[in-house]
Amino acid sequence: MVETRRRFLAIGGGAAAASLALSIRPAAALMQDRGAVRATGQDMPGNVELPASPPEPGSSDSIGFAIVGLGGYALNQMMPRFEQAKGAHIAAIVSGNPDKLRRVGDAYGIPADARHSYETFGNIAGDDRIDAVYIALPSGLHAEWAIQAFAAGKHVLCEKPMALSSAECERMIAASRRADRKLMIAYRSHFEPHNMQAMELMAQDATGQLRLIRAENSYRMQPTTPAENWRVDRALAGGGPLEDLGIYSLQAALYLAGEMPESISASTFKPADDPRFAQIFAHVSSHWRFPSGAVAQIATSYDSAGINFAEARGTTGALTLKPATSYSGQKMTLESGGDRRELSPGDPSVQFAGQLDHFVDAIRNNTPIRTPGEMGLRDLRLMEAIYAAAATGRTVHLNPDGTMRG
Ligand SMILES: NC(=O)c1ccc[n+]([C@@H]2O[C@H](COP(=O)([O-])OP(=O)(O)OC[C@H]3O[C@@H](n4cnc5c(N)ncnc54)[C@H](OP(=O)(O)O)[C@@H]3O)[C@@H](O)[C@H]2O)c1
Repeated sequence: MVETRRRFLAIGGGAAAASLALSIRPAAALMQDRGAVRATGQDMPGNVELPASPPEPGSSDSIGFAIVGLGGYALNQMMPRFEQAKGAHIAAIVSGNPDKLRRVGDAYGIPADARHSYETFGNIAGDDRIDAVYIALPSGLHAEWAIQAFAAGKHVLCEKPMALSSAECERMIAASRRADRKLMIAYRSHFEPHNMQAMELMAQDATGQLRLIRAENSYRMQPTTPAENWRVDRALAGGGPLEDLGIYSLQAALYLAGEMPESISASTFKPADDPRFAQIFAHVSSHWRFPSGAVAQIATSYDSAGINFAEARGTTGALTLKPATSYSGQKMTLESGGDRRELSPGDPSVQFAGQLDHFVDAIRNNTPIRTPGEMGLRDLRLMEAIYAAAATGRTVHLNPDGTMRG
């Protein structure tokens, strides 16, 4: 049973490679689908604590990263974690805000000639101090800047979602292959001890035969408009909460089930006269059926009280993660045969440096990437299926690689 489910979840195989050749579309055509988007500098986020003194310089064999986009996640979560990584350091920063470039550059001890604007980004091509680029821009800019990084001969660690369409993902994968450089999607939960143990437990059928998965990731967004917040701008955020938050639930459903869905039905909702939802959806909900007969219910919302939850329920027990995919504080419970146990496999905060170390290993030793571009592509295909099912009101049937049938 486990073997069967695992086989269905294989990624990056022949089907993905074959479909890549078919649908490479010019960047201009893709941009027209959502309207043109540009990288532009933003103010320093309000709650950033910069290091009091610059971190120790990386050792001579450490992998140097250029951080592209100095936003809340890069400054608060990822950049401080480089010190915990074994073989990675920040070698350069790229920002459209000169004041932020100066303040962040000084705080992290980045040499003046390694602080770039979006206009001078191309200069990294000749800079041997930079091995890899970490893309922490709004999601609608990931494809363009990943492809530029590959053109500059660098490896790419790209934030989730990989992009806003499967066609963009295919272009990114093709660019990575052309450049012979690695591409990894920063799906941090694959390096978080609770989620890693959950994957193992489910692979061992710890809840018996899987019957039901429920996963939800939601919060209530403050009043905002597309001019103030890229997350409500369709060109930069796609449909909204599914790409931003629901992707964690989508991922959890896949790694808990260990198989790809064969069909999806879905619905979306946007309230009238709410500037938050002029361009994006407020809620996206989908129902999946797997070849094993198990089903999943996945919900995500930008307009309901916060929750971050995933549960797998089988014939003999249930595995519950709540919160499931947060930065810290994960809680996991396994119920089995009348027994109920809290599982605490480790400190969730290792997930950030863990993904850096994993990528460094792949760059140095050519080891397989746990969260490759093909996984990001698979997930965008599923999101496209969810939106297609919601738009038509019909159940969408899927091929094993996540492309829609018929
Ligand atoms: N893995 C995770 O847990 C996690 C968590 C949060 C976010 N993320 C991902 O990280 C990425 C960035 O999210 P964030 O929360 O850090 O966003 P954010 O705080 O709004 O920062 C985005 C940064 O991108 C740059 N940028 C360039 N062009 C922009 C434009 N047209 N509009 C807005 N910003 C622009 C700006 O940096 P400069 O001013 O320096 O140019 C801006 O500060 C997204 O892809 C998101 O999905 C991942």
